[in-house]
Amino acid sequence: MSGADVFRPLYRDGGVLRLLDQRRLPAEEVWLSLERAPEIAIAIRDMAVRGAPAIGVAAAYGAAFSLRSGGSTPVEERFATARRLLAATRPTAVNLFAALERMERRFLAVADRAPDAAEAALVAEADAIAAEDIESCRRIGRFGAALLSGERAVLTHCNAGALATAGYGTALGVIRGAVEAGKPIRVLADETRPFLQGARLTAWELSRDGIPVEIITDSMAGHFLSRGAVEAVVVGADRIAANGDVANKIGTYGLAVLAKENGVPFYVAAPMTTVDFACPDGAAIPIEERPGSEVLTFAGQAIAPAGVSARYAAFDVTPARYVTAIVTDRGLCRPPYGESLRAAGSA
Ligand code: MRU
Repeated sequence: MSGADVFRPLYRDGGVLRLLDQRRLPAEEVWLSLERAPEIAIAIRDMAVRGAPAIGVAAAYGAAFSLRSGGSTPVEERFATARRLLAATRPTAVNLFAALERMERRFLAVADRAPDAAEAALVAEADAIAAEDIESCRRIGRFGAALLSGERAVLTHCNAGALATAGYGTALGVIRGAVEAGKPIRVLADETRPFLQGARLTAWELSRDGIPVEIITDSMAGHFLSRGAVEAVVVGADRIAANGDVANKIGTYGLAVLAKENGVPFYVAAPMTTVDFACPDGAAIPIEERPGSEVLTFAGQAIAPAGVSARYAAFDVTPARYVTAIVTDRGLCRPPYGESLRAAGSA
């Protein structure tokens, strides 16, 4: 797979952000055309686009398009309103905030230009964030490929693939990198209750690429790990604290504990933009709670008695002691992560 033929789940087409609606996969491939920050914010909040790096890229385009509307409202106010709206969508993925901060720096540098010229500069910045993300994923793939042999299945959770990034993926980038290195990789994909990112999205994109994948329910992971069916667990991250604690899709923590219990390496794949050096440890990472209704229904059908409520923590924190290595776009980080992440961050 060359750089040019990476599948891109979101990309700019002229003045429009084209975005594959992930709520409709795998049944339908529906592309949305978004031109305004508020509709991009809704797409992020409602998970038409999801996955930390992809959320960051979408938000960057939302910020870039923010100068378009607002009549006589000063550009500073238009930008600030869009930034607030986009920042309020999902709290855990740090890439969202990193992308918005980068866009704000660019905005401050071009705010005195004519609105069209300022928008062109912001759009170029968003394009750069998207292109850099694909490049980061490909580097993660190259660094991570050496960790896998293909002798047994690779287990992954959620979707940290092309769909969760500007293209290629982080955890699935490692898998793609190993496949490109000629290894006979097979994947076990946790279905990932309740949004089913594994069953719907990981299975969709791996089978599209001809990479063998079998879906298991989340509760089967311990069984397969204990029977020696898994050579490694590879997952993505929404935010990594300075000490190496990792926030990722709910269920990741349990999987990491099971991996350690069974002597199976547990790898986290993420670009350095996912590392939040301002968070000393996982306790400082904000964890999104989504509406309980998303747990109580499945494909529009109620799966629990009427009147019963539910909790939906969308992410959990895996303590650094369970993480064998973090595969970044600057190379492999090993414990102690406080040192190795800082070294990678300043490299
Ligand atoms: O709620 P989601 O689907 O946005 O959660 C996504 C994940 O947890 C991914 O593993 C993470 O964002 C890494 S994506 C490269």
